[in-house]
Amino acid sequence: MKKQKLRRSGAKIMASLILLLGSLAYIMVLAVINGSIGFICAMSVTIFGAVGVAKALGESIALSYGWIIGLGVGCGVLRGLLRYLEQYSNHFIAFKLLAVLRDKIFGALRTLCPAKLESKQKGSIIAMITSDIETLEVFYAHTISPICIAVLVSTAVFLFVGFISSWYLALVAVVGYFMIGIIVPMISSKRLKESGVRYRAEFASFNAYFLDSIKGIKDIVLNNAGSKREQEVNRRSELLLKETKKMKHNTARAAASTELIVSLFIIATLILGIVLVHFEMLSIGKMIIGVVAVFGSFGPVIAISALPGNLTQTFASGDRVLNLLAEKPVVTEIKNGNNITYENLNVTDLSFSYDGNIQVLNDIQMHAQKGEIIGIVGKSGCGKSTFLKLLLRFWQKDKGEISYNGIDIENINSFSLLDNVTMVSQSTYLFDDTIENNLRIANPNATPEELESACKLASIHDFIMKLPDGYQSQVGALGDNLSAGEKQRIGLARAFLNGAELILLDEPTSNVDSINEGIILKALKEQKSKKSIILVSHRESTMALADRIYKVENGIMEEVKA
Ligand SMILES: Nc1ncnc2c1ncn2[C@@H]1O[C@H](COP(=O)(O)OP(=O)(O)OP(=O)(O)O)[C@@H](O)[C@H]1O
Ligand SMILES: [Mg+2]
Repeated sequence: MKKQKLRRSGAKIMASLILLLGSLAYIMVLAVINGSIGFICAMSVTIFGAVGVAKALGESIALSYGWIIGLGVGCGVLRGLLRYLEQYSNHFIAFKLLAVLRDKIFGALRTLCPAKLESKQKGSIIAMITSDIETLEVFYAHTISPICIAVLVSTAVFLFVGFISSWYLALVAVVGYFMIGIIVPMISSKRLKESGVRYRAEFASFNAYFLDSIKGIKDIVLNNAGSKREQEVNRRSELLLKETKKMKHNTARAAASTELIVSLFIIATLILGIVLVHFEMLSIGKMIIGVVAVFGSFGPVIAISALPGNLTQTFASGDRVLNLLAEKPVVTEIKNGNNITYENLNVTDLSFSYDGNIQVLNDIQMHAQKGEIIGIVGKSGCGKSTFLKLLLRFWQKDKGEISYNGIDIENINSFSLLDNVTMVSQSTYLFDDTIENNLRIANPNATPEELESACKLASIHDFIMKLPDGYQSQVGALGDNLSAGEKQRIGLARAFLNGAELILLDEPTSNVDSINEGIILKALKEQKSKKSIILVSHRESTMALADRIYKVENGIMEEVKA
């Protein structure tokens, strides 16, 4: 697994994540207050016990025994209530945040789409929506508030013990908090981090190998490679088990050292208390109150010591989510421009490169009129699909002009542009839904007759009617139940349904046999009076349809004889 370097420091990530909370911050504050007071209440139950003992030992205490018992019981009940409120606030935040964060990520994806998402791995986005956000939920609900609670409770106990009992005891307690909450986690975090990283790497690699094996099972069987593959799965499984054991071992060791240090500090406090009483620097009653308060106060710092293993993962997740939220879209939506009804297209001196280095298109000239069928030919990778994407403003042109009806594409409302121009791309995506609903995304209000006539034009109606459920047949996840040619023809039917004046077709017949190609070409020809078409294809038979043909070569586009 490639180690990803964080773009931001841990502190910056934490600060940015807290800022993301926005209006939810007050609930977080409520959770911290409830948690801190709740913990202090829990401690108070034993402290009131100690107060009772101190009173019995002759300490002058203003409260009666009845009050002491009453307050002790009251604190116990209050602890329950506050704990409930703390958990409620934390989980309220956690689930609310999951929704807010997902909304932010989807919002970011919407503005980045489609340009940036072409180059981003779809898998990493799915990982972000699922696991990264879950990790951040842990951060908000179970990381920030324990840290705040530990700081508040430790400060409160320090002051209480200092003022009521002895500043020496208070000082020992602070050293203890510092050791348990900061020093021990810092020492053990390095080892925990290393074994955590190795475990996750092993886990990811095992998963990837296993998934790959399942995906490729047909080829494994065909090549008689089953037993070899199984051996490798077993070997990786053993490795994963070894790393799991090591990680658990390290976690247990860290927890044990924390417990050991807590015990040592408890003993140290007790010895110091006895010494202070011995030298008459402290009454026995006050010593008991102080020592009992310190004994019960390590809970919140122990909770912090369990955090470092999570934090590295949290920072990585936070960094990825923040990167996505900070990413600038290549194109922004135009809302205050002009609306058009397609009449003509003029491209002058158009240049474009994806990365700023390799020039895909160079000073291109091209024009098209309403009712024309324009063909575009050229070798694979020469930039034909790129050109079509620029006509839809999926990417930002570097130089030159693309104008519809004499208006530059940068001044045309995005909605109006997509209303006038549509594209059937080289691969049509089908949703896991019925054929009808897959067609309807192009025009939700289409009548059944319109659906049927679009499918007839795209030469797919007969195929659909042969399916047991006709237009209601499910296409399966990723359109798995359909062949490449069938998918392509559904894409074409969508374009006919869409109602756009100008249709961009990227290899519309590449996966279709010659009979169906003939039918589609005939349909396109018939559409000519109503629609304008820009057609990319390798096939000469398809190009025969074009009124004029442009050829793309070495970034240059020239009109050639039809
Ligand atoms: N999103 C992208 N980011 C960076 N480079 C890209 C991207 N999409 C395409 N390219 C590159 O731009 C060049 C032109 O690609 P394009 O898809 O336009 O070619 P094409 O002419 O449509 O090819 P084909 O006939 O194989 O479909 C190729 O070298 C391709 O690798
Ligand atoms: Mg292409």
